[in-house]
Amino acid sequence: MQLLKEKILTNSQIVSDQILRVDSFINHMIDPDVMMEIGREFASRFAGCTVTKVLTVEASGIAVGLTTAMALNVPLLFAKKKMPSTLLHHYYLSNIYSFTKNESVDIYVAKQYLKSHDKVLIVDDFLARGEALKGLTQLVKQAEAELVGIGIVIEKAFQGGGKALRDTGVRIESLVKIQSMEDGKLYLAD
Ligand code: G4P
Repeated sequence: MQLLKEKILTNSQIVSDQILRVDSFINHMIDPDVMMEIGREFASRFAGCTVTKVLTVEASGIAVGLTTAMALNVPLLFAKKKMPSTLLHHYYLSNIYSFTKNESVDIYVAKQYLKSHDKVLIVDDFLARGEALKGLTQLVKQAEAELVGIGIVIEKAFQGGGKALRDTGVRIESLVKIQSMEDGKLYLAD
């Protein structure tokens, strides 16, 4: 996606050889043109998969999820990181370990919103080691729903999560793949 590549090349900052800052257009301030284009691109890549629900995790996944859900004309469901008291026992639960934050969080979705007849497209802003995606795919499994694929805005290919998940047979579409961020330079895959 050319618009996204240009935005990354001109507006991102390399924080370390592992972390890219994109908070001027994706995960703090959001550029609506870029985000709408991202949603349309995922919708077009997964057209024909008869997706019934888009699934993500709060917080940064919500904007990506919303524009994708709008383009596919299906609901967006986002996993919550704190259990709402209204959920009682009627939820699916899994756990995400964040290497970036060195902490583990439980994520929840209400059983009533994820059903065995659902065809689910998971989306998220970053794919690093794949921990968040593993947690989300667990929720889909618990509901016995079908995972049609995963859409990622920025995949940091050098952190291995994408390869590990693809090796399990999951279809992953990344809009931009970063090969490395060594010596303060950004190397995109294509
Ligand atoms: P993983 O899920 O792929 O294993 O990644 P990791 O544990 O490293 O990521 C944890 C959090 O950090 C996620 O957000 C993820 O989106 C974000 N993240 C990972 N790599 C980068 C990066 O290079 N740049 C930025 N800006 N973020 C990165 P989160 O904990 O769910 O936080 P949020 O969605 O509430 O912002």
